[in-house]
Amino acid sequence: MAQFRIDGFAIVIGAAGGIGREVVLTFAEAGAKGILLADINSGGIAQVADQSKSLASNPNYRCITAVVDVTDVASVDALVNLAKTEFGRVDYCINAFGVDVASYVPFDETDPDDYDRVLGINTKGVFLVTRAVGKIMQSQEPVSVDLGRHGRRDVGRGSIVNVSSAMAIAAVPAKAPYTTSKHAVTGITKAAAMDFKSAGIRINQVCPIWVKTPMFEEECRRVPQTPQILEKLSSLKRPIEPDEVASACLYLCSPTTVYLNGITLTMDSGLTAGPVIG
Ligand SMILES: NC(=O)c1ccc[n+]([C@@H]2O[C@H](COP(=O)([O-])OP(=O)(O)OC[C@H]3O[C@@H](n4cnc5c(N)ncnc54)[C@H](O)[C@@H]3O)[C@@H](O)[C@H]2O)c1
Repeated sequence: MAQFRIDGFAIVIGAAGGIGREVVLTFAEAGAKGILLADINSGGIAQVADQSKSLASNPNYRCITAVVDVTDVASVDALVNLAKTEFGRVDYCINAFGVDVASYVPFDETDPDDYDRVLGINTKGVFLVTRAVGKIMQSQEPVSVDLGRHGRRDVGRGSIVNVSSAMAIAAVPAKAPYTTSKHAVTGITKAAAMDFKSAGIRINQVCPIWVKTPMFEEECRRVPQTPQILEKLSSLKRPIEPDEVASACLYLCSPTTVYLNGITLTMDSGLTAGPVIG
C-alpha cells in the first residue's frame, strides 16, 4: 500500500467542518509531514489540530492553524504564504470549504444576494485558492518518491483537490445558486488542470452526494424527508461518511494517481450513471 501513503505538506481549508476535519485526520494518518488547517471559523480548528497530532504517523509531523476567508484575495494569499514560510513548500491543497443556499426556493424566487454569497464562497473561493496555491507550487522543485517494489516515481510539483458535489453534474430543485456554484467548480478544475499541467501540478475534483456532516444535518432539518429521498436514490441507503470523501482526496494526492488531472471523481453509488428504472 506504499502508493497510498503521502509524505508532503498540505493545506486543508474548511478544516473546522465535517469533510475538511476528516481530510486533516486522514492525511495525518497517511504520513503527511505537516498540515496547515484553515477555516473562517476559528472555533473548531485547534481541537482538530490536536487530534491530528495524536494520529499522525510521520514522527516529524507539524500542524499549524489559521483563519481564512476564501472570498478575500488578501486573506487567501496570506494563508498560502504562511504555508510556504512555515513548511517551505505546499504539496497538497484540499478545498473542503463551502456553504449551502440560505433557503430552498424555486429559481424565480432566488435571492440575488444569496446567489452572490454562495458563488463567492463555493466558486470564487476555489478560484482564489487554486490560483494562489498554483503559483507557489509552480515555484517549487518537483519531487519523486520511493514506491518500494515499483521503484522511484516522479510525482511533480503538487496536487489540488476541490471538494465539489454531485450537483456539479446534475441539478436538484430549489438550489439554483448551489448547483451553479458547483458546476462552475468543474470549469475551474479543468481550466487549472490545463494551465498548470506543464508544471506538473494536478487539479481534480471529488463530487459526492450527501455526506454525513453538519451541512447534511442542516438539510435534514430544512427538508425532513431527506433521509427517505436518500434511501430511494442511493443503493447504499445511507449518506456518505466523511472519511470516505477524505480517502478519495488522499487517493487523488497519492503518488499512484499522477496520471489523473482535471478529472471528476463522482461518489454517488451510480446515481448519475443512468436513469433510475424500476
Ligand atoms: N455534506 C454534504 O452533504 C455535501 C455533499 C456534497 C458536497 N459537499 C461539499 O463539501 C464541502 C464541505 O462541506 P461539509 O459538508 O464538510 O460542510 P461543513 O459545513 O461541515 O464545513 C464547511 C466548512 O467551510 C467553512 N467555510 C465556510 N465559508 C468559508 C469561508 N468564506 N472561508 C473559509 N472557510 C469557510 C465553514 O466554516 C465550515 O467549517 C462543501 O464544498 C460542500 O458543498 C457537502
